[in-house]
Formats: sequence, C-alpha cells, structure tokens
Amino acid sequence: MKILVTGGAGFIGSAIVPKMQKEGHDVFVLDNLSFGSRAFISVDDAHFFEGDIRDADFVNKTFDSVQPDAIVHLAAIHFIPYCNANPFESADINIRGTMNILDAARKIKNLKKVFFASTAAVYPISDHAVDENHTLLPLDIYGLTKLTGERLCSEFHLSTGIDTICCRFFNAFGPNETNPHLIPEIEKQLRNGARTIALGNLAPKRDFIHTFDMANAVYALVILENTGYDTFNLGRGIEYSVTEIVATFEELLGEKITVEIDPARTRKVERMHLLANVDKLKTRTGWSPNWSIEEGIKDLIDNWK
Ligand SMILES: NC(=O)c1ccc[n+]([C@@H]2O[C@H](COP(=O)([O-])OP(=O)(O)OC[C@H]3O[C@@H](n4cnc5c(N)ncnc54)[C@H](O)[C@@H]3O)[C@@H](O)[C@H]2O)c1
Repeated sequence: MKILVTGGAGFIGSAIVPKMQKEGHDVFVLDNLSFGSRAFISVDDAHFFEGDIRDADFVNKTFDSVQPDAIVHLAAIHFIPYCNANPFESADINIRGTMNILDAARKIKNLKKVFFASTAAVYPISDHAVDENHTLLPLDIYGLTKLTGERLCSEFHLSTGIDTICCRFFNAFGPNETNPHLIPEIEKQLRNGARTIALGNLAPKRDFIHTFDMANAVYALVILENTGYDTFNLGRGIEYSVTEIVATFEELLGEKITVEIDPARTRKVERMHLLANVDKLKTRTGWSPNWSIEEGIKDLIDNWK
C-alpha cells in the first residue's frame, strides 16, 4: 500500500513510519517539522513533503501526487498546557488542519482507510478504566479539538463510505519525545546530573504505552478491513503514578532520587486516573503490548550512554 503519514516526523510517527516500511509499504510523510525532525525517520526526498496542514493547496497537491491507499493523520499540536495557552492556534491546526486533510482525502480515487490519532483527553475524569462507549467530555481545549476531529471523521465516513478509524491514544513513551511530558522531563533532569528533581503532582496515575507497541497497534488497525467508522482505545491497560515512574528510574539507575514539588508544575484541575480498557483493540486485531514500563525506561536510559 501507499501510506501517507501526516506528522510522521514526530515522536509517535518516528515509530509508526519504520513499522510500515518494515511491513513492505511505500510510506510518504507530510510534516511541517514544527516539532518533528527528519532525522527521526528514514525517508528520501521523494517521500517527504514539508508543509503545513493548514495550507489547503499544499495538502491537496501532496495528496494528489501521492494518491495514497491509506492516510494516517497524526499531525497536531498536543501539549496540553501549550494548547490551553494558545487555543486559537490549537483549534486552527487540530480542527481546520483536519478538515483540510479530510477534504483532500475525499478526492483520492482508491483510498481505503483513514486513521485519525485521537486522544484519551476526550474522556471526562473517571476513577476506573474507560472503554470506547464511555461518555465523552473533554476537560481542555486539546481534548475538545480532538473530539471535533472525531466528529469530522464520522461525517467523512458517512459521506464517503471510506473505512475511518479514530484511535484514542493514551500516554505515549519511548525514544524521540518532542514535548516536555513527564517521562522526558524526568529524563532531562536526571541526564543533566540532578538527583533532586522538580516535578508537579506525584499521585496522578497514567496508562503509559510504548511507541513501538503503539506502532504495531496502528498498523493492525490500518490493515483491518471493512471497519466502517469505528473508535479504539490504545493504551496498555495498566496505570502508574508519577511516584512509581520515579521509583522505576531510581531502581534502574541504582541511585536515590529526591523529588521536590514545583508549584509552577502542578495543574489546577488534575485527573487522578487515566486508564484504558483495551479489550476491543485486542479482540478485533489480536494485538497485545510487548514493552513493560521497566523495559521502556531501561531502553531510554541505555540510550543516554
Ligand atoms: N504523545 C502522546 O502521549 C499522545 C497522546 C494522545 C494523542 N496523541 C496524538 O498523537 C499524534 C502524534 O503525537 P506525537 O506525540 O507524536 O506529537 P509530535 O508533536 O511529536 O508529532 C506531531 C507531528 O506533527 C507535526 N505538525 C504539527 N503541526 C503541524 C502542522 N500544522 N502541519 C504539518 N505538520 C504539523 C509536527 O512537526 C510533528 O512532527 C498527535 O495527533 C497527538 O495529538 C499523542
């Protein structure tokens, strides 16, 4: 297949693109490199289109020249504090950009699949694992833009009949992180030699999933046939608190780490849990995750050296 990955030079894209290439597909990347890097992926110039998804002309021309069989739409702005501080820019990229992608997709003759990277941020606060039928109620601008993206995808499917999947990613971790999320933030401070690190709230738990496991799941969903419009959670189904993540670093490094709470990093409204029920993904694709949190963090530490 010819697979076009928007945002393919980013953190999660840098795991998805090589997975698709390894499976023998012809992979094209569209990215404006605002967060991503060409060095993260191995694609030649003929397969790389540098530009902005807000530029409808550029998107149309790229799609027209590639004529993809499948589109994996990852390009977005997604660091929640940044989105909250820049709501118009976030809406412009995540909503209008997605409209441009879907509009260009309509004109492709043999398009078989659209895959949209949504997020766990479409769910409200819940103390239990959430499945795909859970109420949708985003808490922030980012979640709101992604929920709008899902609705646009649903409308796209209804008007074209093309198989369209919205996949709600939980907390990704792995190499090539581009945003100051928890794990790269801990890594950065430790790497700089600190053993007393500054963090926000320590109790919230998150469902961390390794990007290599995500790439396998995304691939399984891209090749899944006759899906119609559907949504899938993508997490590991296990949650870890910030304290437990720090303890994992401590154990793997064999050194004591002290945490100081930095009030500037504490969120005013915080979800104490964010846990995926991934039964649907497992049942429908046979996928299961391979990377534990310890193995993933060990791999990150090994790469410092
Ligand atoms: N990282 C996570 O934990 C997580 C969780 C849930 C959902 N997601 C979603 O997964 C997708 C990929 O996220 P990521 O973590 O790899 O982030 P990322 O920022 O590393 O990747 C996004 C990519 O899109 C590109 N991009 C941004 N704005 C663009 C624009 N206007 N035009 C063209 N390209 C643009 C960036 O350069 C980058 O390469 C996003 O849609 C994100 O919302 C990520």
